[in-house]
Amino acid sequence: MIKVSIIGGSGYAGGELLRILLNHPKVTIGQVTSRQFAGELVSSVHPNLRKMTNLTFTHPDGSHPDGSHPDGSRPDGHPDVYPDNLSHCDLLFVALPNGISMGKMRNYMDVADRIIDLGSDFRIHDKDIFSKWYKKNHEDPELLNKFVYGITELHRKEIREAKYVSCGGCEATASILALYPLYKNNIIKDEVVINAIMSSSQSGMSVSLSSHHPERSGVVRSYMPTGHRHTAEIEQELVGIKPLISATSIDIVRGLHVTINTTPKIPITEKDIWKIYRQEYGDEPFIRIVKERSGIYRYPEPKILQGTNYCDIGFELDTSLLDTSPPGTSTNRLVIMAAIDNLVKGTAGQAVQDMNVMFGFEEREGLEFTGLHPI
Ligand SMILES: NC(=O)c1ccc[n+]([C@@H]2O[C@H](COP(=O)([O-])OP(=O)(O)OC[C@H]3O[C@@H](n4cnc5c(N)ncnc54)[C@H](OP(=O)(O)O)[C@@H]3O)[C@@H](O)[C@H]2O)c1
Repeated sequence: MIKVSIIGGSGYAGGELLRILLNHPKVTIGQVTSRQFAGELVSSVHPNLRKMTNLTFTHPDGSHPDGSHPDGSRPDGHPDVYPDNLSHCDLLFVALPNGISMGKMRNYMDVADRIIDLGSDFRIHDKDIFSKWYKKNHEDPELLNKFVYGITELHRKEIREAKYVSCGGCEATASILALYPLYKNNIIKDEVVINAIMSSSQSGMSVSLSSHHPERSGVVRSYMPTGHRHTAEIEQELVGIKPLISATSIDIVRGLHVTINTTPKIPITEKDIWKIYRQEYGDEPFIRIVKERSGIYRYPEPKILQGTNYCDIGFELDTSLLDTSPPGTSTNRLVIMAAIDNLVKGTAGQAVQDMNVMFGFEEREGLEFTGLHPI
C-alpha cells in the first residue's frame, strides 16, 4: 500500500485522479489540495465521489504567523511556496494549471520521493524549445532532464526506474501513440497533418467568456489552426517528424479525436499496416486497433471511451488513385485516427498507469473501467 497526495485536486484532472485512485486497491490518499475549497469536503466539488470518501481539501501552502494563506510568498520575501501544509507521502501527483508547477517543484520534491506531474512544465527536455513554444523562460531549467516523459507505451523501462515523470499532453498522447509504430518502422514521410477535435473539459475548470454556455454551446471553433504547443512534444518523441496541428473545439464535454494524414514512403498494403500495429501494440493493455468493415463504430470514437484508459487507433489506406504497383499497395495517403478520453488516457489515467509501473503494480490496476454503451 502506498500513500499518495494530489496538488490541485479540485480541478478536472485532479477529480479524475481521485475517482480512479479511490478504487485502486494499492493506494491510500493522504492530502488533496485546493486553495478555494480548503476545509471543504472533496465530494462537494466532485459530486460523483459522494459516499466514496470523507476527505476534505487541504490548502497547498503553509500559513503566515497571522494564520493567512500566503499563496506563493513567504514572510521573508522568498518567491516560493510554503509546503508546510503538506505531509510526506510516497507519491505526489501535481495537477496544476500550466506554468505553476515549475516554480514549486523543488518544494514538492521535499514532500515526496516520487512525483508525477500532469501539466506541461516538465514535458519538454530542452529549455530553449520550452521557451519557443511556451513564450517564456523556464523557471527551473535544471530540473527538466530529471523528468521522464510519461507515455507509458514508449517509456515503460525508464518509468519503472523514474523518480519524476511528466505525463504527455492529450493531443500529443493521441498523436504520438497513433504515429509511433509507423515512425519506428520508417514507413511514413516526415510531414504529418494532424486535425484534432477537442472537448470543453480540456480547458480545465476555470471559467471565461469562451466557456460561457451561450458562447460555447453548439460551436465548431477553430481553437488553434497553427502554433499548437503539443507540436514540441511530438517532435521530441518522434524525432524528424514534422507535425502540422490544427485544433478545433466542438460541443462535447469529454473526449479527443485526431485524424492524421500521412504519406507512405514505400508502397504499402493494408495488411502491412495491420502487422506493424499488431507487432507494436498487440500486448499493450490500453491500446486497441479499431477498424471494422461495417457498423457505426468502425473507427475510433471518443464517445464510447468516456471514463476509460483506452487509446483506440484506426487507419485507412487511400488506394483511390490506384497509382501503385504491385496492385493493392499505395503510396498515396495513409490516414490514421485515434481517440482517447482527455481526462483519462490524456491525463489522470496515464498518470495512474505510470504510477503502477513505477511501483511495480499490475499495469491495469485501478484502470479496468470498460466504458458505457449506450452513452
Ligand atoms: N483538462 C484536461 O483535459 C487535461 C488534459 C491533459 C493535461 N491536463 C493538465 O493537467 C493540469 C490540470 O488541468 P485541469 O484541467 O485539472 O485544470 P483545472 O481544472 O483548472 O484545475 C487546476 C487545479 O489547480 C489548483 N490551482 C490553480 N492555481 C493554483 C496555484 N497557483 N497554486 C496551487 N493550486 C492551484 C486549482 O484549485 P484552487 O484554485 O482551488 O487552488 C485546481 O485544483 C494542467 O496542467 C493541464 O494542462 C489537463
